[in-house]
Amino acid sequence: MQCDSTQLSNPKPENHRHSSTAFRFRRIVDVMLSLMGPVALCGGLSAIVSGCDRTPALPVAYRALPTLALPAGDSSAGNLVFRNECEKCHQLTPGKNFKGPQLMNIYGAKAAALSDYTRYSQALKTSHWTWDQPTLQRYLADPGGALPHGKMLYDGLLDAKERQDVIAYLATLRSPVPISKTVTPQS
Ligand code: HEC
Repeated sequence: MQCDSTQLSNPKPENHRHSSTAFRFRRIVDVMLSLMGPVALCGGLSAIVSGCDRTPALPVAYRALPTLALPAGDSSAGNLVFRNECEKCHQLTPGKNFKGPQLMNIYGAKAAALSDYTRYSQALKTSHWTWDQPTLQRYLADPGGALPHGKMLYDGLLDAKERQDVIAYLATLRSPVPISKTVTPQS
């Protein structure tokens, strides 16, 4: 109020309607402030992009190092399949969960086990699956059919060889868990 000169020269609220240049300027500042408020609250430009719905980051979760033997399949061909089909939703770095959970150490892991990925479906959480070869084969062929009410909005890989190759690739994703980190055990 104290720094508002328009208010002093136009004490009656109705005068605001006959907008002076100063008043227009105030409107612009008001609009800018109302746009900037949420930005300040949510921490930067990324908030505008994300729609300001961020929850505080959870501690990074790790899956234990896989112990299952490597399955058949061409893992370098599988790497390409992964890049074309999966990478837009799945990263491979612990803590980097985007649309889908990150997939490091996934082969042989329990389904829906990452505590820092908050969007698992109830269906996957209660599936009690282990990501071994037959389970991945079924799921990747037809995610919606294998897991009704699951959240992986992906049509599936129709080609059996591509499935086997991508499974072979997933099985090569093995990264030791940093010492002193809590681990989601392999089943
Ligand atoms: C459109 C985004 C999208 C694409 C494309 C996609 N996924 Fe997923 N994926 C998800 C989501 C979301 C989930 C979580 C599903 C749930 O909770 O029901 C998931 C879950 C998974 C899981 C289980 C992870 C866990 O922690 O239990 C595996 C394994 C998986 N996806 C593999 C793949 C592979 C391999 C491909 C490519 C052939 C692929 N996904 C393509 C979004 C995607």
